[in-house]
Amino acid sequence: MLLLLEHVNLGVNDEILARKFFVDGLGCKLNTIGTNYRQVHVNLGLCQFHLPFKTRNPHDVKMASQIINGWIELSTEEELENIRLRLVDIFQNSVEASVENHELVVRGPFGNVFKIHTIHKVEAEAIRQLGGHSGGSDRMLGIKGVRIFCPTGTCQIISKFYETTFRASTEIQGGTCSVLFEGPCKQSLTFEEVDGVVSDNYDMDYIHQYHVACYVDSREAFLSSFAMTQKNGCLFVNPRFQGGPVEFASSETENEARACWQFRIKDIKNPMQEQQVVYQLEHEVRSTDHVSFPIHSFESKEI
Ligand SMILES: [Fe+2]
Repeated sequence: MLLLLEHVNLGVNDEILARKFFVDGLGCKLNTIGTNYRQVHVNLGLCQFHLPFKTRNPHDVKMASQIINGWIELSTEEELENIRLRLVDIFQNSVEASVENHELVVRGPFGNVFKIHTIHKVEAEAIRQLGGHSGGSDRMLGIKGVRIFCPTGTCQIISKFYETTFRASTEIQGGTCSVLFEGPCKQSLTFEEVDGVVSDNYDMDYIHQYHVACYVDSREAFLSSFAMTQKNGCLFVNPRFQGGPVEFASSETENEARACWQFRIKDIKNPMQEQQVVYQLEHEVRSTDHVSFPIHSFESKEI
């Protein structure tokens, strides 16, 4: 099963603005280990945002901003009005922020939409007890969900893809399919059918070449997901991550996957009709053995 939707990787075209928005504005915590000459990493509970502003090679090309075609839901222990006032203070009118029905909706400086909810202090403390990333968290404490618009008529197939690849639980309601992450944070990755969205969005436009990182709940689940992905011809090699540490690159064989506990998927295919790509979303799929797994005292079965 899917355990944790751990990070979203979004290219940004301005390092200083990224720090200002995610750290000073939203209340995420800068991760000083992951942040370097080409990326900003911020922590929020068990989750992170990875915000690259330069490519690794060949000539440190500056990145353009990437925009989720949908929105990201966040959990905070802070009062929503405090965040809104802070955003207004820092950004004046260049960031939109409004509170309605206990939800703070923010359109950030790079164009992404965030829907933020306050969680109870008890829940906040429970998240902190579970673990986190180097440097800990500030007041923003998690990615509760990601919603992505997908082509009309694809939700049933997307649901089958996640059930088949990850033995994930899914829920279909009208034109939406929610893929459930059944770990302690109870997150979801929801696909919503919208007219005009194309299936090959990732290949067509750099703006959609963001990724989500997903942990499955055991070594056995990871190897089974890898085998299914390999069988269906869905393994993806992202050239942008080649040449770096293997645990953040792209496995092409089971031996490589066992060595780094990560592989990538880009194409969401119809499990019954393997050549049919219904949508594209890059995933990093990880085992609980991965070096960055943030939940303390979680035991994976030996295989
Ligand atoms: Fe990543």
